[in-house]
Amino acid sequence: MVSCDDVSAPVPVKQSGPARARRMRVKAPPLAEAAGGSALLSLLKFAGAKWWVHEKVPHLLPEPANVTAYREPFCGTIAVGTKYLGKVPCVISDAYAPLIAMYEGVRADPLAVRAQLLELVGAHFAAESREEQQAHYYGIRDDFNQSISASAVRRAAWMIYLNRTCYNGLQRVNLKKGEFNVPVGKYKSVSVPSEATFLAWSAALKDATLSACDFMKTIFPVVRGAFYFLDSPYVAASKSANFTNYSGVFGPKEQAALAESLSEIDAGGARFMLTNSAMARPLYEGRWNILEVGVDRSISCKVGQRAKAKEIVVTNYADLCL
Ligand SMILES: C[S@@+](CC[C@H](N)C(=O)[O-])C[C@H]1O[C@@H](n2cnc3c(N)ncnc32)[C@H](O)[C@@H]1O
Repeated sequence: MVSCDDVSAPVPVKQSGPARARRMRVKAPPLAEAAGGSALLSLLKFAGAKWWVHEKVPHLLPEPANVTAYREPFCGTIAVGTKYLGKVPCVISDAYAPLIAMYEGVRADPLAVRAQLLELVGAHFAAESREEQQAHYYGIRDDFNQSISASAVRRAAWMIYLNRTCYNGLQRVNLKKGEFNVPVGKYKSVSVPSEATFLAWSAALKDATLSACDFMKTIFPVVRGAFYFLDSPYVAASKSANFTNYSGVFGPKEQAALAESLSEIDAGGARFMLTNSAMARPLYEGRWNILEVGVDRSISCKVGQRAKAKEIVVTNYADLCL
């Protein structure tokens, strides 16, 4: 799992004897500079996040000055979008509505989201027993799934809390009801992004169009001169994987529709970068430039088991765009 935790906030853990606070292990965020020197470190842990694009293929990311607009229809953590937010007109969207609501909450009142998040995380680690901690987590998970009329700020805090304390940082919903159904994780501590990070996200998202919608709506109509970053759910390694990832099914039909849309983006005078697992290669072979990169990511349900996964970066432009 790629994550860029911001570690400036100490988070209280289960207290025994005198109250004490433990600091999260420090992991230097490698991306602040790559992402334009901003404080836009990830608000969420997302197994499929594409922060590595800044490190592995920076030469393939057009400079904001050279694009008319930015479109990211599978935004997740908006890892790649951090280079464009606030610099060009951006449309940031995802089919998972609670994710977009989370960004709306952070944009509206970043410090209130953080304050509520700290309370939730504090209560999580102040629990006297594992059972009490589970009851807290599952109570918040029920609220998150059932109280869609709660304020954007509250929903944002719930989402980040669940994301950081759930099992293995998974993002998974049940298909019938669309409810987040990941069990509680077993962390001794979790990090909470700093005030600076929340404020930076709020400022960066200020003029962006945020939308909860299917990817097609963000791709079309194609904007001449725009840059499209397309990072759909992976081509599934197994049949069941289609049914457990993210917010719903993204199967062969959707993969094919996305692949088809590339010709129209290209014909519309825009550039695209698409990422997927190397298994998706046949969909793009012979039509576009394909670069294969090795990426560290968790490929096992066992925490800590990581390996280099092969991913592809597909573009309609050759090397070194400035
Ligand atoms: C691989 S993740 C994107 C990760 C993101 N690029 C990042 O760096 O964090 C795929 C995203 O696609 C979204 N998604 C799934 N089906 C979709 C659809 N039909 N239209 C738009 N978004 C969809 C999921 O909710 C998920 O956030």
